[in-house]
Amino acid sequence: MTTTLDPFAEPFGTIFSDHMTVATYENGSYSYSGQTQPLQPFSMHPGSHVLHYASTCFEGLKAHRQADGSVAIFRLDDHVARMQESIAKFHVETPDATLLKQLILDAATANAGDTPPNPGSLYIRPAFIGTLENIGAAASPTTSGLLYVVNSPVGDYFKGGIRPLSLLIETQQPRTTPQFGAVKSGANYAMALGPTLKAKADHGVDQVLFAAGDDVTETGAANFFLIDDTTVITRELDDSFLHGITRQSAVTLAKELGYDVQERKLPVDELISWQGEAFLSGTAAVLAPVGSIVLEGQKITFGDGQNGPNTLRLREALTNIQVGKAADTHSWMTKIR
Ligand SMILES: Cc1ncc(COP(=O)(O)O)c(C=O)c1O
Repeated sequence: MTTTLDPFAEPFGTIFSDHMTVATYENGSYSYSGQTQPLQPFSMHPGSHVLHYASTCFEGLKAHRQADGSVAIFRLDDHVARMQESIAKFHVETPDATLLKQLILDAATANAGDTPPNPGSLYIRPAFIGTLENIGAAASPTTSGLLYVVNSPVGDYFKGGIRPLSLLIETQQPRTTPQFGAVKSGANYAMALGPTLKAKADHGVDQVLFAAGDDVTETGAANFFLIDDTTVITRELDDSFLHGITRQSAVTLAKELGYDVQERKLPVDELISWQGEAFLSGTAAVLAPVGSIVLEGQKITFGDGQNGPNTLRLREALTNIQVGKAADTHSWMTKIR
């Protein structure tokens, strides 16, 4: 065990496990020793491509402690595929799925003992950084890099556990540029930072829901849903926002539970007149109830503003699979220990 720090008491993502895995990228190919390493800082040239031209992307997935004490990763193959798509956006050769999977499995297996019980988990963070030493490479891709995986035992993403979140609807600025909306590139998060900090400071909300062009998409780090007793609505997929793996899981489970699932565009007017519940979905957020939204200074409450029963029902269906309390009929879980 890395640390005696309590993942439920420390901020999400601030405790790190002892082991990491690293592959190097050089001129189109990756090389990995097959050995985990102690978690340690990288030494990097100050002219490294990533430090100037933001050649970095990452993934976020989780290993869950199972009811029988073992540990299993949720939707490993889907996260590997999305990371491959993200890396390709940087015009860097894509690592084989087998290699990326091995890096994730080796790190998570070495750190599996750090996995806290549900609702905690072992957060898995694969990342790519461009290390080409060239400050004149604004218009060319990095030809060297590091592909690595670190782990962090985590508790709740939102302080206070399951509670109704508040959002501000941003109708002017998009979260990020449309051509990078569907990838997990570091710069996307920098772009969402200004509006999010301002909304927190001015309105005391938890997150911003981006809806530029009257098109409700997602928040800074989670997808958005409406739900009532019969219907589930979430934005149809296109390149403008991240194709959440939790979103796809919620869609699948909602259909199985008999909801009429509509993946389509959602205008702001429809959202503010919605009589049912709303929630966020994400690896970190899980399915998190939304109690209210602020639009142009006006607060609008969903239902009674509390955690909605349909949201909690769907959340339970998802977490039961993640912790091995319900049958894994979609083969979403990969046992590591
Ligand atoms: C911008 C953004 N949208 C949505 C999500 C949810 O994606 P997932 O469910 O795959 O974690 C995330 C988190 O990864 C995110 O950063």
